[in-house]
Amino acid sequence: MKIAIIGGGNMGGAIVRGLAASTGITPADIALSSPRQNTVDALAEECPGISTFTDNKAAIKDAEVIILAVKPWVLPSVLDEIAPYIAFRSQSIVSLAAGISLDDMSDMLRRYSTDRSLFRVIPNTAMSVGESMTFVCHNDAGAECVDKVVGIFDRLGATAVIEERLMGAATALCSCGIAYAMRYVRAATEGAVELGLYPDKAREYILATLKGAVALLEATGNNPETEIDKVTTPGGITIKGLNTMEAHGFTTSVVEGLKASCR
Ligand SMILES: NC(=O)c1ccc[n+]([C@@H]2O[C@H](COP(=O)([O-])OP(=O)(O)OC[C@H]3O[C@@H](n4cnc5c(N)ncnc54)[C@H](OP(=O)(O)O)[C@@H]3O)[C@@H](O)[C@H]2O)c1
Repeated sequence: MKIAIIGGGNMGGAIVRGLAASTGITPADIALSSPRQNTVDALAEECPGISTFTDNKAAIKDAEVIILAVKPWVLPSVLDEIAPYIAFRSQSIVSLAAGISLDDMSDMLRRYSTDRSLFRVIPNTAMSVGESMTFVCHNDAGAECVDKVVGIFDRLGATAVIEERLMGAATALCSCGIAYAMRYVRAATEGAVELGLYPDKAREYILATLKGAVALLEATGNNPETEIDKVTTPGGITIKGLNTMEAHGFTTSVVEGLKASCR
């Protein structure tokens, strides 16, 4: 399956790297287009065998899936540029642009065709290590097209097809959520240093603890509170720590932060 990726920045680059390293898609199936020659050259050096372009129209030729990894404000001009060259019956269009709805994309393409498979995809930066949580929604695209698009992002982590109305929540939880998880790691590191640990060791220990928490939840299917109950001896130190965190607004901060980042 030929895939064209338009935009060689954080997201486009991560998709190219992830797909080039995955099984089932060969580098020759990947076409990357970005305006600066040095951007595409650097990715071609990292991922030998991919095709690179600085002309978006040339990059989409023969691609079954066209992934638009450009900033939201650049998307209209890129769609305008490539739309006359898209074979809408056979090529699916996937936008990563945050906040641009399927209806917005449909409007942008109205002049060209009404019969088109449009997708919005929200991945996160862990795509570059094959561990993204990626959300997909579409405008009633056929099952075959959906399978193709999901199949691409399954190679870069976990994928869920959701209703478009939930894309804002999904973005806050998992795309912005990467930053929130990082902030927990930073906060825990700061606490650990105050308690006398060196930061690099603290980081190692925190990551191992988080991995353990994830493994426990995945292995047991338990609610987090069930696992918390196992650690909170009455009168013990863990409940004192948890209650102190809550007194400083832990849960409220997380909930309000998610709500603030949901659009
Ligand atoms: N970063 C995230 O965590 C995240 C998560 C989910 C979704 N998204 C979405 O993903 C999209 C890309 O974000 P990003 O972080 O990858 O942005 P980025 O790093 O700025 O990458 C955008 C790329 O598009 C290229 N570009 C600019 N104009 C172009 C054109 N006319 N044709 C082709 N390529 C063009 C840029 O090239 P130059 O640098 O040479 O201008 C750059 O390589 C955004 O719409 C964003 O909303 C981002």
